[in-house]
Amino acid sequence: MKRKRDLLSIVDLSRRDILDILAIADKLKRRLKKTGKNKPILKGKTLIMVFEKPSLRTHASFDIGMFQLGGHALYFGPEHIGLGVREPVQHAATVLSGMGSIIMARVYSHQTLTELARCSSVPVINGLSDLEHPCQILADIMTMVEHKRSLHRLRVAFVGDGNNNVTHSLALACGLLGMHIAVASPKGYVMKPEVAAKARSLAAKYGGSVIETLRPETAVKHADVVYTDTWISMGAEKEKNKRLKVFRSYQVNEKLMRLANPDAIFMHDMPAHLGNEVTKEVFDGPQSVVYDQAENRLHAQKGLIVFLLKNKKK
Ligand code: NVA
Repeated sequence: MKRKRDLLSIVDLSRRDILDILAIADKLKRRLKKTGKNKPILKGKTLIMVFEKPSLRTHASFDIGMFQLGGHALYFGPEHIGLGVREPVQHAATVLSGMGSIIMARVYSHQTLTELARCSSVPVINGLSDLEHPCQILADIMTMVEHKRSLHRLRVAFVGDGNNNVTHSLALACGLLGMHIAVASPKGYVMKPEVAAKARSLAAKYGGSVIETLRPETAVKHADVVYTDTWISMGAEKEKNKRLKVFRSYQVNEKLMRLANPDAIFMHDMPAHLGNEVTKEVFDGPQSVVYDQAENRLHAQKGLIVFLLKNKKK
């Protein structure tokens, strides 16, 4: 029997799947830009969106994406569902998947997502968990292709919080796609060992590499892409003062950018905190592609939904 497919980790997708999703996304993007609209290929389909945390890009892109494809998106905010609190995840998953065509959830604990996916009869998408942020990375890969043409041998540097959803999905995607990634993060804030090991084994298989270092300069030297994210992810607010100190020397500024290749691009998943993880000069500078990344969330999301509704596990 064929089973539904979920996207909880970026490695739930193969290299081929990622390229297929981005090909759909690119086609939909071109058509939208050219004609102002897309065909209503998701007519009658409903996406159920569950948010335990705030969201701008994920919420907007999923909602607008469904609308543009003729479907409907239904929003549940933190006060509405109370997954595992107001009622067991299993009950919510069974009810929601009995009504909707596909579920997207942004959660604190990744375990909530795995439980949601286990109990749901329709595809479940990770709209960010403490462990991964695969939807962000699909848009990022699309952006890298647009700016760099080929992913082959691309050198990516991530500077900042290694034990972070964005870093994890980025390192895994680089592994899958045969890219080189160097992650510079302070002691105590490195990638989860099991994620780093998985990224390394994928890199070994597909011709890329994964380096972990304490020094931002080592990571950024000769990079084609310099990426950073907030030092204080949602849920880590109580550690704000401590983190501001620990990460102080991990700021992406013009001096650091000068170590990268001259045509390197700067990426950030946003929200950005100017003066912390990145300076205003870099964020708004000529190498920055942050708004392309943000816009591509829309196109990549559409590619992903169409792909998951079409493809079942063999
Ligand atoms: N690492 C950040 C990503 C925000 C889109 C967070 O989890 O808050």
